[in-house]
Amino acid sequence: MRVRETNSKNALTEVETKMADQATQKVYLNGQLVDKQQAVVSVYDHGLLYGDGVFEGIRVYSGKVFRHEDHIDRLYESAKAIRLEIPIDKSKMLAAVNETVAANGIVDGYVRLVITRGSGTLGLDIRRTSDPQVIIIADTISLYPEELYENGLRIITASTIRNHPSALSPRIKSLNYLNNIMAKIEGTDADSLEALMLNHKGEVAECTGDNIFIVKNGVLKTPPTDAGILEGVTRNVAMELAREAGIEVVEMTLLRHDIYIADECFLTGTAAEVIPVVSLDGREIGDGKPGPVTQKLRQRFQEYVRE
Ligand SMILES: Cc1ncc(COP(=O)(O)O)c(C=O)c1O
Repeated sequence: MRVRETNSKNALTEVETKMADQATQKVYLNGQLVDKQQAVVSVYDHGLLYGDGVFEGIRVYSGKVFRHEDHIDRLYESAKAIRLEIPIDKSKMLAAVNETVAANGIVDGYVRLVITRGSGTLGLDIRRTSDPQVIIIADTISLYPEELYENGLRIITASTIRNHPSALSPRIKSLNYLNNIMAKIEGTDADSLEALMLNHKGEVAECTGDNIFIVKNGVLKTPPTDAGILEGVTRNVAMELAREAGIEVVEMTLLRHDIYIADECFLTGTAAEVIPVVSLDGREIGDGKPGPVTQKLRQRFQEYVRE
């Protein structure tokens, strides 16, 4: 939550708050903290023209950037995979994120870190681009209504499959999210805020912006990275916390059928955190309520992020 002085006498209206945010919010742009309105990039930037760039979404809990190194490592790995050289090193990037969080008084919030290819000519050639843009936005986020954390999400399987890893590896967190957006549209058209995506082999991959887990006979199961998924930071934390709690964790190929007949199901993601899923394609999962392992992990996750 952004630190802002409000009291009943001097409470800001939503519009005033937005205007105040515009005036005070600082965005990191290529080494400098600038006002939000001044944080602009060229219309010739290949990040805009082609979705050519990489990004990270990171949580801040109690003023501390959560799993900071893990996110920065993944950012540099994504950049390496698309032959994008980030103009500053990892230690400078870590410091820049901390600086942006502090400048905006973010205690519990969200950081969006974006690296674009930079401006270029109207063509795909990366050799004809220059000045990759380094952008850090520190803000707040609320993805799903609280009610869904209590009662669970009802999701559908999208007909759009996850990108074939030989076309564009889902391990790259690139600025081109159209694959996920196409599936998300199918979800929202069906009144489902998330949608399950299968891979090119028809196996369970992940959801449009979250990784997926099931619990069957006390064992926690999730698709492996070679199912064509983003290796989620929250996914790794959930597996660690489950193992610490004595729960067996297996990364294995899952089919939609495994989810239909699971005892429990939940999703993980930086923005979503840990959220139960109670039905897939109209089939209730377990007894149609968030299960005990999911609830335990969700609670443990909430404690862990503030330790
Ligand atoms: C496609 C996709 N899968 C999974 C995740 C979850 O990853 P993380 O836990 O690192 O946020 C995200 C969110 O970043 C995502 O976009």
